Amino acid sequence: MPVVRRRSIAWIALIATLTLFYFWNASTRSPPPSYTDANSRAAQGGADFWKLIPVHYPPQSIRPLPTKAPVKYPNVQTSFGKEPAEARAIREHRQRAVKLVFTKCWTSYREYAWKSDELAPVSGGKKNPFGGWAATLVDALDTLWIMDMKPEFDEAVQAAATIDFSKTDLDQVNVFETNIRYLGGFISAFDLSGDERLLHKAVEVGEMLYKAFDTPNRMPITRWAIHAAVSGKRQTAPPSLLIAEIGSLTMEFTRLSIITEDAKWFDAVQRIMDAMADQQDSTALPGLWPLVVSAKDQIFNIGNMFTLGAMADSAYEYLPKMSALMGGQLPIYQKMYEKAATAAIKHALYRPMTPQNEDILVSGAVKSENGEVTLDAQGQHLVCFLGGLLTVGGRLFNRAQDISAATKLVDGCIWTYKALPHGIMPETFHMVPCHSLDGCEWDEKAWKKEVLRLAKDKQATSVDDIIKRDRLPPGFASIPDRRYILRPEAIESVFILYRATGRADLLDSAWTMFESINRTTSTKLANSAVWDVTAPQDQQPERANSMESFWLGETLKYFYLIFSETDVISLDEYVFNTEAHPFKRLVP
Ligand SMILES: *[C@@H]1O[C@H](CO)[C@@H](O)[C@H](O)[C@H]1NC(C)=O
Repeated sequence: MPVVRRRSIAWIALIATLTLFYFWNASTRSPPPSYTDANSRAAQGGADFWKLIPVHYPPQSIRPLPTKAPVKYPNVQTSFGKEPAEARAIREHRQRAVKLVFTKCWTSYREYAWKSDELAPVSGGKKNPFGGWAATLVDALDTLWIMDMKPEFDEAVQAAATIDFSKTDLDQVNVFETNIRYLGGFISAFDLSGDERLLHKAVEVGEMLYKAFDTPNRMPITRWAIHAAVSGKRQTAPPSLLIAEIGSLTMEFTRLSIITEDAKWFDAVQRIMDAMADQQDSTALPGLWPLVVSAKDQIFNIGNMFTLGAMADSAYEYLPKMSALMGGQLPIYQKMYEKAATAAIKHALYRPMTPQNEDILVSGAVKSENGEVTLDAQGQHLVCFLGGLLTVGGRLFNRAQDISAATKLVDGCIWTYKALPHGIMPETFHMVPCHSLDGCEWDEKAWKKEVLRLAKDKQATSVDDIIKRDRLPPGFASIPDRRYILRPEAIESVFILYRATGRADLLDSAWTMFESINRTTSTKLANSAVWDVTAPQDQQPERANSMESFWLGETLKYFYLIFSETDVISLDEYVFNTEAHPFKRLVP
């Protein structure tokens, strides 16, 4: 079977490249491509611009939206009692502090980077890595609404209405990022405000992205040569791409179909999910899909690497969230979620060895080859979303085991924040897994052995030197990527678990996180990613001059919401996309 072997070798090479790319991307300081704000004309054709491009492969038929009545799920949120006056005062003080930080960043974005994708928070410049379509502005629309900043919201909507999506200086558009940030941002701001201008922009982005599905098998192109498509060239779906990028279009497309009553977007993504469902049981780790899949051949079950972290994450996230979004109209999502959650809990979660033997869990990566399943005991800031996700799934579908795992995952993220000198978790790290979920005695020798195993220069230095040089807190076997890039996932899960359980200590953990993050990342203008959260406590980590749109779109929104009254964006009325944009749920 040389063809298969060659293909799998190609895949292994691709995964290696992708992993390299991930870490390379994570550690180089090269600036993103620049974009000259070429007097971008007001959107002339809007959605029509995209509809007028000839279609080469029209769908044979369009699957209609389900018409079944939505079901009543159990509540995601717990019922909160009356709030004591003292607790309320503390909460409102914290809420104001979050809003102050947001306002400072928004003001600087408005002054120095208005309508570009990002503010450069140290130098005061601007960056355009996401098409030059004002990513920060669109990502922050719903946050402005939620924070009750109506004048700023109105100004931003007016500006958003003039974004011209038919033009970009990028050669290649990332369909996934465009979907979660722009389409998700417009849909949610429309769901909250009802402003029709936002719906028009959502439809415009929806028409643009729909063009990426114009391939022989109607599978999408995820890294998309947009100019070729505009000029009417034929296109084919790629033979290898990331499961997260093809598996995370579902919520935005479906919500757009529900709002517009035009089923074509739902139809487009449901084809992907049907193929994923068909092949979920036949992968090397049944229940989970490999990191890299083929859209061209619709192969979702060949490959050995599995993770719920980077490059896969939101494909899993959207399963129970689709049930919430559609009020359970398609039972397949619950089935897919339950299989995935069961496999993830069994294979990917591990209890790390810590000095105090804390009862926590971390989600690692798994290789499954020839029936042998091996765990890579890594951790990522990004995978902290999983605690929130298992909370949502556990509550919707009455799965106590998911809530129990979620609690330990969230506690694991909180623990990891506390274990680092500035109170912030790094992008990636490795730990030492206990053999049993019941825990293990702290074993300094075992820890050092693992440090040495992972060190690249084991001959050159002693293990104690490595620990000192790499500033490894006890329990951490290596820290490959030391940055903190203003990510939301830890506070996201703390927020969701708080709304589901009412655990008061989570409010204090959130506040500690917020203070640590603000202290460590603030600049004169705004907040910035930092290069090294392992820097000694008495040294400020160097600022990286980067503020991705998710800082205003996600991180500060979740911080604000956890300190808001618990019926503000109730999880029983809304479900968040992977960019923290709340969409209205269908409820009976
Ligand atoms: C955020 O950090 C900056 C810099 O340390 C500080 O001036 C500001 O007061 C902090 N904001 C809040 C709300 O804590």
